Amino acid sequence: MPKYTRAHDMDSWLRDPRIAARGFAHRWQSSVVAGNGEDAFIALVEQFLRPDCDVLDLGCGHGELTLILAARCRTIVGIEREPGYLELARELTAEQNVANVQFYQVNLAGVEDEDRVFAGIPPANNSIDLFVNRRGPILRRYLDEAIRVARRGAVIVGLHPGGNTPAPIWCDQLPEPYRQAFMARSFDEVTGWVIDPLRTAGISDYSLWWLDVPEFLRTPYELYVRLGGSQTAEGSEYQAIEPQLTKIVNKYGTSQGIVLRHQRLLWQVYLPK
Ligand SMILES: C[S@@+](CC[C@H](N)C(=O)[O-])C[C@H]1O[C@@H](n2cnc3c(N)ncnc32)[C@H](O)[C@@H]1O
Repeated sequence: MPKYTRAHDMDSWLRDPRIAARGFAHRWQSSVVAGNGEDAFIALVEQFLRPDCDVLDLGCGHGELTLILAARCRTIVGIEREPGYLELARELTAEQNVANVQFYQVNLAGVEDEDRVFAGIPPANNSIDLFVNRRGPILRRYLDEAIRVARRGAVIVGLHPGGNTPAPIWCDQLPEPYRQAFMARSFDEVTGWVIDPLRTAGISDYSLWWLDVPEFLRTPYELYVRLGGSQTAEGSEYQAIEPQLTKIVNKYGTSQGIVLRHQRLLWQVYLPK
């Protein structure tokens, strides 16, 4: 039997209602099989984590991963542009009595990004051994600064969501406007987020892995929420489209529910020194 896990941050959401209350959670219930991108990301990070390493978490959100890794390294810095997420990260740090974590509000942006408003990311030159980026900002927004703060042999381990590619065959049978709700990014686009800045910087010591597993949604209402619908199951909009969604779930659902592709690009890069 495959092992199923919740697909999106649901565990921390269920544990701590503040996460949902502050908007940093996915509202739908879905599950993925073991061996998905998030599992592989953690396994890869673990290959590089050491008790004496200094870590930087790029786009750390409310610090869920940052605080987990803190127990396994010397120091860890979390960088995030949204103040509300950082506020919660700091609350959780104090509650959990974690002493080796620092959080900074920074909008990571590369020299060519229009919204670049900062001079640099906080850590000093030659101070970081391991960079982690779980579904955070794309590489061109921080590669130059990562090279500056990296120690010899430093590695970035990253994970980016793909685009539900190919779109499910029942996509055209969805009610408008939900037909457009699927992310339509191509594999090439997401791969380019990593390899284009590396090529520009002349960095060739990297690896990429696409992980693609089924993501299951169990009910028509879960499909509606996954598509961005915001009403309760009793709401008039949901009631109006419920027959169409039920038809799709009945026709295309497996014994686990209806399937979306759950895709992640996992990557690692050794930074030059
Ligand atoms: C999907 S969340 C993932 C959060 C966290 N890494 C985790 O896995 O729990 C992506 C986070 O990256 C942050 N982010 C995106 N672009 C950013 C940027 N340019 N600078 C700083 N943070 C950014 C977002 O605000 C968001 O909190």
